[in-house]
Order: sequence, then C-alpha cells, then structure tokens
Amino acid sequence: MSKIQKIRGFQDIYGENAKKYRHVVDTFREIFELYNFKEIILPYVEDISLFKRSVGEATDIVQKEMYVFVDKGGREVALRPEGTASCVRAYIEEKMYAEGGYHKLFYEGAMFRYERPQAGRYRQFHQIGAEIFGVSSVLADAELISMVDKALKTLNINFKLEINSLGDFQSRKIYTEKLIKYLKSYENHLCETCQKRIDLNPLRVLDCKVESCKEITKDAPKITEFLSEQSEKRYLQLKEYLKALNVEFVENPRLVRGLDYYTDTVFEFTTDEIGAQGTVAAGGRYDNLVEQLGGPPTPALGFAAGIERLILLVKDLPKEKPLVAVVPLTSDYNIQALNLSNSLRNNNIKSETMLKEGSLKSMLKTADKLKSDYVIFVSDKYELKEMSSGQQEIFYNPDDLIDAIKGKI
Ligand code: HAM
Repeated sequence: MSKIQKIRGFQDIYGENAKKYRHVVDTFREIFELYNFKEIILPYVEDISLFKRSVGEATDIVQKEMYVFVDKGGREVALRPEGTASCVRAYIEEKMYAEGGYHKLFYEGAMFRYERPQAGRYRQFHQIGAEIFGVSSVLADAELISMVDKALKTLNINFKLEINSLGDFQSRKIYTEKLIKYLKSYENHLCETCQKRIDLNPLRVLDCKVESCKEITKDAPKITEFLSEQSEKRYLQLKEYLKALNVEFVENPRLVRGLDYYTDTVFEFTTDEIGAQGTVAAGGRYDNLVEQLGGPPTPALGFAAGIERLILLVKDLPKEKPLVAVVPLTSDYNIQALNLSNSLRNNNIKSETMLKEGSLKSMLKTADKLKSDYVIFVSDKYELKEMSSGQQEIFYNPDDLIDAIKGKI
C-alpha cells in the first residue's frame, strides 16, 4: 500500500524538537507573565477581508501566500497568516477598549503562508507573539523590545537587534514619493519583482535580496531623513530607553517589514546561524490599524517570534525529571506494579510501568531503551536498581522504597 506523506511545507515536530518547542513557548510564557500580559486564544480561520485590510492588499502575504477557501456557507475565508490582525479584530469585536486602561495580550499557535519552503521557512509554522493596545508612550516600545531581548537571552540564543522608524503616515507619504522618484530613475536595472513594486509597494524594494537591487537601494533616500518632528523625537527617545535598559541594537534604515500596518517603530531580531531565514522575532507599532479595522483610534504595537526558527537555535534544554521504570518479575505481580507506579506518580516521581510484557531480560532491555534512570523489579519484594552504577537495594515496604527514591533524586 502506498504511504501517505505530509503536505509540502508542513512538519511533524516530535522528540527532541517537541521538547525544544515546549521550552521556547514556556520561556516566553513565563516572561509574558512577569510583564503582566494576558493570553488570548484566537481562531485559525478568519474572513479574508480582515487580512486584506490589515496586512495589506499589495503585500506578498495577501497577493500570493494565503490559504484561501470558500466554506460550505459560501464565505471566503483564510487560514491566518499571522496573529496581529485577529488580535485587533478581537480587541474591537469584544469591545476591550470600553474597559478603559490599556490591554496587553499574548497568543501562540500555527500560522499559514504558502511560501517556498526552505530551512526555517515552512507553510505551516508557529508564532508566539504579544500586542499592546491603547498606549502611545514610547515606554511601551522600549519595554516590548526589551522583553523580547530578555526572552531570547533566557533561551541562550545569539542574536542581533535591528531597529528603524517608518515615521507616521505623513512622514511616510513624503518619503514614499521621494523613493518612487529615485527608484524610477533606475527602473530598468531593478529585478522584475521590484519593477512591479515601485508603484505597488515601493518600501519593499529596500529589502529585496537581489544583488542589483541592493546596489541601487544603497544610495536611496533614507526614511529616517524624512521623519516628522514628532516621529524623530519618538525614535530618539526609543534609543535612549533601550540604552538605559542595556538592550543592544543597531539602526537599519532599510528595515521596512513585509506587512503594511506599521508606523514609527519597527524592529527585527536576527541571527546568522540558521541560513537565509534568520529573522527569529519581529514587530513594531501600528497606530492606525485599530481604526482602519473599524475600532476607535487606538495606538498599538506588538511582535511575534517564529518558534521553528528558535527551535533550530536552542541548544540546552531544562533538565528532565529522572525516570523510574516499574517491572513486574512475572505477570502475577502486574497489579502490584500498577499500584506502585501510581504511588510514585502521586509522590511526583516520573514513572513508567513496563507495558511491554516479556522475559525479564527483554523487559530490562526495554527499560534501558526508555532511558530509565532507575528500575524497580516487583515481586514479593522491591529491588531498586540504579542504571548508571548498577547498584541494587532491596525493600519490603513501598513507602520505604519511595522515601529512598526521593532521597536520591
Ligand atoms: P512577520 O515578520 O511576518 O511578522 O513574522 C514574525 C516571525 O514569524 C518572523 O520573524 C519569523 O520568525 C516567523 N515566520 C514568518 N514566516 C515564517 C515561515 N514561513 N516559516 C517559519 N517562520 C516564519 C508578523 O507576523 C507580525 N504579525 C508581527 C507583529 C506582531 N507585528 C506587530 N505585532
């Protein structure tokens, strides 16, 4: 019979990688908790217009990467390509703004983009991200960036932080006109995609990876030279706060991001250890998006990290609890073994009842394959064997045995 394979760009995450996945998520979650973010669990499927109106009609994501289908009710829906749009929709739809104050939300889960798969780039991938609604102060930008910095440092990852300001709408309008004029004068030397981008999405030309485009944009006007007074002040303040928080960064005036909703602060955490797809976390401010999606004017900002890329970088995992395998000498002792495993677990000791019945030798071999640290042979007594040293001890009472194990681990 022919085997069914997973779909291109999709992955099974298991074994060591699943542990790393959990470690990444737990690390971010603990840090979110310290910064007082609250979890939001968002739908995987949304009305397609949500992404058109937020991520942007002219972006690669909306133009060619979304998984779109018509459901049985005739609705045109999309698998979410990112989390911010849904988070904003929920903020508006659940009227969170009416509660006053401000909101700090985090989310985690699968996102879908029909991109060309390669190392670190998948069609289903997972993000963990956070958004802050209702704060315009640069304090929020600085805290958000320093929180991501802290999480990546806790994960013991080498990275570089790049920041830029895209200015407010007004600054960007003036800049875009200048940039288009500049790009038009080199139009014939740009790659085919960038030629189309000039009118559609000129900022994206700045982060094209094609050598000839890179060469041309090296001398292009820089957005930071066109910032309004207010945006420039914000950018200076951000840098001052980041320095005060000991967050190292480099300024990259070409950093534009691939989504349309950003204003002022944008940032990317990158690494050169995993090949071309080196951005591990990214985000920025999007002060117009809530209003653009039908909510009240609400300044907002956020970030998302790519869990698969972080998995590629995580080297050390937290130490696991030692494993105690419980092996009945013969099937006559099965019930006793089941009960002993239960008592061990009730005492917070990780235990594996030997589920594969067989000869003592084969069961011991299985216990070894399962990477047991201790094995207990159950008969009319309990024989505790430490696998690393081979040392054995005999107990007649399960409570004494459990006390002894507690003392060892
Ligand atoms: P993004 O830059 O599109 O931003 O994605 C954030 C991160 O998700 C990337 O830096 C990368 O680590 C990971 N990622 C993206 N695409 C893939 C892929 N195909 N395979 C593996 N990992 C991927 C956003 O999504 C924004 N929503 C971030 C944000 C939140 N901005 C404000 N708030």
